[in-house]
Amino acid sequence: MRPQVVAQVAVSLDGRTSGFDADLARFYALATLWQEDVTLVGADTILAQEAAVRAAPHPGPRPAAPLLAVVDSRARVREWEGLRQLGHWSDVLALYADQTPARPPDAMIRELVTGYDRVDLAEVLDVLGDRGAKTVRVDSGGTLIAVLLELGLVDEIALLVHPVVVGSGQRWCGLEEVPLRHAGTEVFEGGIVWLRYCVSA
Ligand SMILES: NC(=O)c1ccc[n+]([C@@H]2O[C@H](COP(=O)([O-])OP(=O)(O)OC[C@H]3O[C@@H](n4cnc5c(N)ncnc54)[C@H](OP(=O)(O)O)[C@@H]3O)[C@@H](O)[C@H]2O)c1
Repeated sequence: MRPQVVAQVAVSLDGRTSGFDADLARFYALATLWQEDVTLVGADTILAQEAAVRAAPHPGPRPAAPLLAVVDSRARVREWEGLRQLGHWSDVLALYADQTPARPPDAMIRELVTGYDRVDLAEVLDVLGDRGAKTVRVDSGGTLIAVLLELGLVDEIALLVHPVVVGSGQRWCGLEEVPLRHAGTEVFEGGIVWLRYCVSA
């Protein structure tokens, strides 16, 4: 059975996903509420953190933590071992497509191949569900979330809205119309607002 898919994103008041200081401590504290089995991440989100991954402590995989699955049809991610050792995840899974460039023969990373030139996200979710995943949390600056939304694969959206207008940069969602049902609002110190919506069927 396909898992529940929730996407949480930190945004400015004008919907941008970068160009401001996101409250990461609150972001990740709230994210733990879903107790996801899999963190599904866009390759560009990982690439933006590669230097930080290299510099961070590497306590090793945490068996009780979620699996990190990265959509990477162009095989751009290099820091797989560093990600695995961060202590945030139990293991890492590279999501590739048929046309993904060849991996080094000694590559040790678990992989799942779906789709022809892009990863087939619906099939990925089906496979993760078959392997026992109940909840998948998407971490993305917006691109992967928009693709999943367009495919009707997202069940819940949570926005952590920061009290700042950035004025330029990527918005979390560029789609035309997605009907949503309000599921909850919380206001935190400093004017940060957490908005949760269910995606209407
Ligand atoms: N504010 C926040 O909460 C937040 C959270 C995360 C990241 N960020 C920031 O956002 C930026 C990165 O986010 P982003 O939105 O640019 O990229 P992203 O969502 O991290 O990455 C885009 C992903 O979408 C995949 N994709 C695109 N079209 C697809 C399709 N048709 N089928 C299947 N997969 C498809 C790409 O796959 P391929 O690469 O395989 O083509 C890639 O994995 C960074 O600056 C990061 O720091 C902000």
